[in-house]
Amino acid sequence: MRRLGLFIATCLLAACQNQKTEQDAPVAEKDVAWSNVAYGSKEQRHSPLDQINESNVSDLGIAWFKDLPDARGQEATPVMVDGKLFITTAWSKVFAYDAKTGKELWSYDPEVDGSKAIDACCDVVNRGVAISRGRLFFGTLDGRLIALDANTGARLWASQTTDNSKPYTITGAPRIVKNMVVIGNGGAEFGVRGYVSAYNIADGSLKWRFYTVPNPEGKPDGAASDEIFAKAANKTWSDGAWKESGGGGTVWDSIVYDEELDQLYFGVGNGNPWNHGLRSGGEGDNLFLSSIVAVNPDTGKYLWHYQETPAETWDYTATQSIIIAEIDWPVSGGSDAEGKEGEEAESEKTALTKRRKVLFHAPKNGFFFVIDRTNGRLLSAEPFVENINWAEGYDLKTGRPIENPAARFYKTGEPFIAIPGALGAHNWHPMSYNPGTGLVYIPAQQVPQGYEVPSSEVDKSRGRQGFNVGVAWSIAQLPDDKEVYKAAIASTTGQLVAFDPKAGKVAWSVDYPAAWNGGTMTTAGNLVFQGTSLGLFKAYAADSGEELLSMDVQSGVVAAPSTYMIDGVQYIAFLTSKGGAFPLTAGVAGGASRQIPNIPRLIVMKLGGKTSLPALPQQNEIVWDPPEPTGTPAQVAEGKALYGRYCLVCHGDSAIGNGFTPDLRISATLADAETWSSIVSGGALKDRGMVGFSQLTPAQVESLRHYVIERSHWTKENVVDVTAPVAR
Ligand code: HEC
Repeated sequence: MRRLGLFIATCLLAACQNQKTEQDAPVAEKDVAWSNVAYGSKEQRHSPLDQINESNVSDLGIAWFKDLPDARGQEATPVMVDGKLFITTAWSKVFAYDAKTGKELWSYDPEVDGSKAIDACCDVVNRGVAISRGRLFFGTLDGRLIALDANTGARLWASQTTDNSKPYTITGAPRIVKNMVVIGNGGAEFGVRGYVSAYNIADGSLKWRFYTVPNPEGKPDGAASDEIFAKAANKTWSDGAWKESGGGGTVWDSIVYDEELDQLYFGVGNGNPWNHGLRSGGEGDNLFLSSIVAVNPDTGKYLWHYQETPAETWDYTATQSIIIAEIDWPVSGGSDAEGKEGEEAESEKTALTKRRKVLFHAPKNGFFFVIDRTNGRLLSAEPFVENINWAEGYDLKTGRPIENPAARFYKTGEPFIAIPGALGAHNWHPMSYNPGTGLVYIPAQQVPQGYEVPSSEVDKSRGRQGFNVGVAWSIAQLPDDKEVYKAAIASTTGQLVAFDPKAGKVAWSVDYPAAWNGGTMTTAGNLVFQGTSLGLFKAYAADSGEELLSMDVQSGVVAAPSTYMIDGVQYIAFLTSKGGAFPLTAGVAGGASRQIPNIPRLIVMKLGGKTSLPALPQQNEIVWDPPEPTGTPAQVAEGKALYGRYCLVCHGDSAIGNGFTPDLRISATLADAETWSSIVSGGALKDRGMVGFSQLTPAQVESLRHYVIERSHWTKENVVDVTAPVAR
């Protein structure tokens, strides 16, 4: 009975998504869509399909696959509507396939300029499309929102949503809200002012815009956000670097339309600079950084907000997946408790529950939030990972964290190693919620990070290129010690966490040896699916966590899977490839995932699928032959500081490669100062995502080369066994 109800609801949903299908030929009974990147409007990433279930999931095999053009991060969730499967890939390209046969129907390349990569903190990724009534919408790295005909790939309109003289990017998927397409942007590591915009679905004209941080000149913007800033948000900011940098607060991923309450929610990112002492003189909560904001979808006007990390200073974004749900909740729980205390309140808690409209959120800061979505009140905030050290918990009455004073490094003047670090206990990798088990499946991780006030001129400097976050990069660079390297590998791990929002605790979890594992998807077949950074595609029983499938898919996986049914056959689709912030920056802490190939590919599976993947290409043998170390200690030291400030974010800590940007320690360019300089400052490879750093002096460019030569010798002599480079 329950299953039948769900099945009908899904068919209705699929039909509503596409008028043409509705009019011309009713959606075949046996076709079930995956209609936006996060499945449907509640964004639960839960499918009612159960043809693939815990009794047969081990029979999954590959139905078809497609190799993709760029060996950079692939983060999109495939969307299936009307028999077509749509993906976006690195560099904001779009591909459409026949979802059953895999035949490519069309592709669209927006031809993003390769030099734009320097504005992308976290790889040239894109997280997918939105589809409405035969039209497809996606954002591009250079800030365009583009509408295509979903049948032909022909361009309908394009709107420039950002100022390209500033380091804005788009990596997130747009969302359809009534007759609008809503999109945010990124860039808060470099210095931009975040906002969300709603465009008319018919012609791409701007309908409203909501800025997430104040106008630096103290003037109204003529935007939907003016009123709330004048009334409440401006006064949460003090004098500081935000006035020049824009303040950050970019909405680079989750945007969710709540159909039931007619409210639009979005998650706001970190501040710029990260360092709250520099950003806002160490004063004020800095609204709406690190908050979930609810607005009226028609006007963009403020309704409510909940700020998860007031006075954010560790890059704790609140941009992660927002999931809409309804659950039974104790009547006296949460910050709106009516003041009952002691035994009376305790007994009521267990006895009385009320159906509540909530949203679930597991942001970078490590706490799982249950929020009443009718008013934004905090109901619960409990840790979903261990070892969190920046706060010990939340005060439910005030909704504020109980902080560890040592975590505010700019106040103490002492360095602080925070857990989680800037990569988060949970980053963008989508989580999913199964209403059947009541559990939320979070791709979680342990990636500690040191924070320290910058003291060197290089770290203090702010320019158009390189992160401008106001922390010392020297502390992010590991010391030359084999034991430290081993400890870094051991302490940087991943987990699949099944979190019980009602109990406020972890129901079960699976440990992974490396961080940055893929997003999750769950189904009525009592299953959870996840790809891993070590190149496996896994399925677990959703209720118990028992592992039911572990398939070698050759490449690391970061994206989340989706599932759909065509002609009565259930398929599972996902992208492979490593990529994104962690592999780019991690260096040795990437651990075993550094050895796993990076293969950009769309894989579609079904029960009994018989297609095999091609043999892996032959790995080039790595030749450790660095030129003689001729740099002075002063040059090497200067090179190290410059490397941390400008290069680490793409070539990894200590110049250790990652499998998709070159391992500089084995680069032939090391032996040739002229070629090195033509690339590093001249921009010879700018079309390929390696922009020239024109502000570096010739002496600095040379110091960088000497530093990398020194790295090459040191690793060759000391730690080849734990940090063997990955060939390009
Ligand atoms: C935005 C990301 C990014 C940043 C930041 C970056 N690089 Fe690169 N770099 C790349 C990519 C991507 C390539 C590979 C380009 C290609 O495909 O040929 C590359 C290639 C190179 C190469 C050529 C290596 C070879 O063997 O072909 C050198 C040398 C290099 N980078 C040095 C640096 C230095 C030094 C810095 C800091 C001043 C730096 N890069 C900062 C992305 C980056």
